[in-house]
Amino acid sequence: MTEPRQFSHQPVLLNEVLEALAPVAGGVYCDATIGGGGHAESVLEASAPDGRLIGIDRDPAAVAAARQRLAHFGDRVQIIHGRFSELERLLAQVGVPAVDGLLVDLGVSSHQLDVAARGFSFMNSGPLDMRMNPTEGETASELLARVSEDELADIIYRFGEERLSRRVARSIKRMANDGTMASTADLAVAVRRVVGKTPKGKSDPATRTFQAIRIAVNNELGELESLLDALPAPLAVGGTVAIIAFHSIEDRMVKQRFAQLVQPCVCPPSMPVCPCPPPVAELRTRRSVRVTHREEADNRRSRSARVRAIRRIL
Ligand SMILES: C[S@@+](CC[C@H](N)C(=O)[O-])C[C@H]1O[C@@H](n2cnc3c(N)ncnc32)[C@H](O)[C@@H]1O
Repeated sequence: MTEPRQFSHQPVLLNEVLEALAPVAGGVYCDATIGGGGHAESVLEASAPDGRLIGIDRDPAAVAAARQRLAHFGDRVQIIHGRFSELERLLAQVGVPAVDGLLVDLGVSSHQLDVAARGFSFMNSGPLDMRMNPTEGETASELLARVSEDELADIIYRFGEERLSRRVARSIKRMANDGTMASTADLAVAVRRVVGKTPKGKSDPATRTFQAIRIAVNNELGELESLLDALPAPLAVGGTVAIIAFHSIEDRMVKQRFAQLVQPCVCPPSMPVCPCPPPVAELRTRRSVRVTHREEADNRRSRSARVRAIRRIL
C-alpha cells in the first residue's frame, strides 16, 4: 500500500459528540486529541462566529495537519503539541482556566495506522516504533527487548484480551532474542505463528497483540487516568466533557470516574446527617452511546467506539 499524502481520518460519532457538547457562539472548547481536526472543525463551525477552540495532540504530524486544516478559522483556533495528561498546564499556557466543552477521542488516528513508517500496522511493514510522539519515549522494539516474557504476556493479555497471550509472548521473545524481530511484519509473523490466519470476514488476530503493545508503548491508560483524575477542574461550571473510547478497559475507567463525579448520596437511610459531598456533575449520556450500523458500515474502524459525557454542575 502506498503512503497516504493527506492526513486521513474520519471523525467517529460526530453527531453524538456535537449533541453532547452543544457548541455555541462565544464558547471556549478544547479538543484534547485533535488528530486531523475533523471533530474540531465541526465544533468551530457550530460555534461560529466567535467560539474558540484549543487543540492538543501528542503527535507532531497531527498538530501540523490540524493547523493546516483549521487555518481558515484564524485566531479562533490554537493548537498545542502536548499530552492531555497535562491538560490544565497546557490550557493555562494559552490563558484558558476552564472550557465549556472538552472532547477526548482516545486511541490512534487512521493516519497513524496507515503510514507504515510509524510502525503501528501489520498491514504494511514498517519499523517497530508505535510511538504517537516519535520524538519521545521508548519504541515498541525497545519495549520488546526490555520486558520479560511474563511481563509481555501480561501486557498482551490485559491490553489485548488475547487468551493465547503466554504463547504469543514466547513466540515474540524467541524472535527478539534471535535478532529476527526488526519490523511490524516480523511481529505479525511471530503472532500469527500462534494465533493462525484471519478467519474469513473477521479482524486479523494480530490486531489484539498490536493494540496491546501500542497501549503499553504510549502509556495510554496512565494518560487517561491522569486526565480523569483532573476532572472536573478543566471544565467551567455548565461545561461538558465527552470521551470516546475504543477499548473496554478505557470505557470502564471513564464510566467509573464519571459515576464518582455524578454519584448521588451513598448514605444508609439511618444516617441522621449526610456527610457526602454534593455531586459535581450530571450525566449527559445515560449509558455509553455506540456507533450506528450505518456509521459502522461506512467506517469499519469506528465499530468499537462509544462515547460517554457528563456536565459540570458545581
Ligand atoms: C482517534 S484520533 C483523533 C481524531 C480526531 N478526533 C479527528 O477528528 O481527526 C486520536 C488522536 O489522539 C492523539 N492522542 C492519543 N493520546 C494522546 C494523549 N495522551 N495526549 C494527546 N494526544 C493524544 C493521537 O496522537 C491521535 O492523533
